[in-house]
Amino acid sequence: MMIEKSGSIQLKEISLPEDASPELRELAQGMVRVKHLYRSALKVAVTQMEILDEEFASLYDHTPIHHIEYRIKTVDSIVDKLKRRGHEVTIDNIFAHIQDVAGIRVICNYLDDIYYLRSLLTRNESFKVIREVDYIKEPKDSGYRSLHLIVEVPIVISEGTLHLPVEIQLRTIAMDMWASLEHELRYKSNRDFNETEAARLRLCSEAVYEVDREMQNIYQGHAPEYHV
Ligand code: GTP
Ligand code: MG
Repeated sequence: MMIEKSGSIQLKEISLPEDASPELRELAQGMVRVKHLYRSALKVAVTQMEILDEEFASLYDHTPIHHIEYRIKTVDSIVDKLKRRGHEVTIDNIFAHIQDVAGIRVICNYLDDIYYLRSLLTRNESFKVIREVDYIKEPKDSGYRSLHLIVEVPIVISEGTLHLPVEIQLRTIAMDMWASLEHELRYKSNRDFNETEAARLRLCSEAVYEVDREMQNIYQGHAPEYHV
């Protein structure tokens, strides 16, 4: 669950043509700063999730988190998203309109673990939940299930304290299995599903949810009562 020490992001990591204009060079410099700031926010969010996991383990002898994945959105996909949403590609627009530059995926053991973590997180005064979408209770048309939170986390830098959004996707191991395979089927094969296939995928999602609930019930028979 550790974040690898990758050092600072250098300007050379952002590919610029030889004859790049001063404006483009300034934008690239800004991107370096954006990546640095959001990487800091990512570290704060991952560390906070690990702290909650460890505390839970010491109180209840159960770790709610199976593992955590995280990523910083690539420059290309930040630019794509701004354009898709009709915004000019500027540093200010990244801060104003893109809430998933920093993203973490928390893969939980049981269904209830997701909601325990959510309630612990939302109780934390320094972490402000600015958006919540529960695709577990109301799955997407594709069958996708996860709990999505956009949380503003504080980072302390030389100029003071900044609050930056981090997208936190919470899901069970089973939901993660479905999402990974659906993504692979959809993108690796580079095609849309026909109606029958889409319906079969939705059925798989239902089956996975059934397994999650049954596993939760079996676990419940042995679990201590949580007070969160
Ligand atoms: P994005 O531009 O994709 O970020 O859309 P959005 O900001 O409107 O957020 P949304 O909640 O729709 O989805 C955000 C993320 O959830 C995606 O980047 C995926 O990681 C995941 N996701 C959403 N829908 C699906 C789906 O149907 N299948 C899979 N495998 N993942 C999904
Ligand atoms: Mg997103």
